[in-house]
Amino acid sequence: MRAVSCHTYAVLIAKNKLNSVLVSSMAHVLVFDSGVGGLSVVTELRALLPDLHIDYVADDDFRPYGDKTALQLKRHLPALIQTLVLMTKPDIVVLACNTASTTALAEIREIVDVPVVGVVPAVKPAALLSKTKTIAILGTPGTVARRYVGDLIDDFAKDCQVVLHGSTCLVELAERKLAGGEVKHSEIKTEIQPMFSHKFGKDIDVVVLACTHFPLLLNELKSTSSHGISWIDSGQAIAKRTQSLLVKKDKLPLPNYPQTAFLIGGAMSPKRSKMFAKHGFAKTVILPA
Ligand code: DGL
Repeated sequence: MRAVSCHTYAVLIAKNKLNSVLVSSMAHVLVFDSGVGGLSVVTELRALLPDLHIDYVADDDFRPYGDKTALQLKRHLPALIQTLVLMTKPDIVVLACNTASTTALAEIREIVDVPVVGVVPAVKPAALLSKTKTIAILGTPGTVARRYVGDLIDDFAKDCQVVLHGSTCLVELAERKLAGGEVKHSEIKTEIQPMFSHKFGKDIDVVVLACTHFPLLLNELKSTSSHGISWIDSGQAIAKRTQSLLVKKDKLPLPNYPQTAFLIGGAMSPKRSKMFAKHGFAKTVILPA
């Protein structure tokens, strides 16, 4: 037998993993985010693939990811996701977090033995959609600073003026909203105002929501900014990418427990439980940090 180097072997496994996902529409998917942001992706998955068994993980203890360094995330995420995969045995992991995907996707794929679908900020569709050729990318401070996003701009938005804006506060406002708390217009406005007062700000006609938490604030974002702006995210694209990895096959053993939201080191309140139940998670479980 011909010897293969470690690297070649890793590449072969990665290719094989993608080709051999034989699961039905009743597959088991693990959706992961630093908090409730991934629920914006869950909504799209449930719309496209209503029979999926979804388990959800919110890494409450380590949130926000957006102010962590790339090194911190690369050290934290691969082993954590591998442990969660061993625990829940999903067919596919959906890394429903831009910050994690733009930083540590390769490292996670390296050690996790099932396909991992990451989130790519919707820079390409935004550039195509923009009439003024001025777009904004609204993400976490980490995401907008990553080389990954710079490369997307170079590849797909070379003909556009691009305003990059990072906010950690919007992440916590989305968390607060979904925990049943009040979010004031003035709080949202303060967070997004710098984007529009940028020297290209008045020409922005498309905003990329490059954080999965932000679609959860879409109504608030729209009502605190001028009309005529398109706000786009990657939720539907992720759901379609997940679907494309599912090949029909009957009699898959599905987990014999209800669809569960696991909160790492998180706090549970009746309102939060109810909100997870509304997203299809019959059970919420706190995992120790
Ligand atoms: N929802 C995440 C994202 O898409 C991360 C938010 C955070 O923890 O900073 O980037």
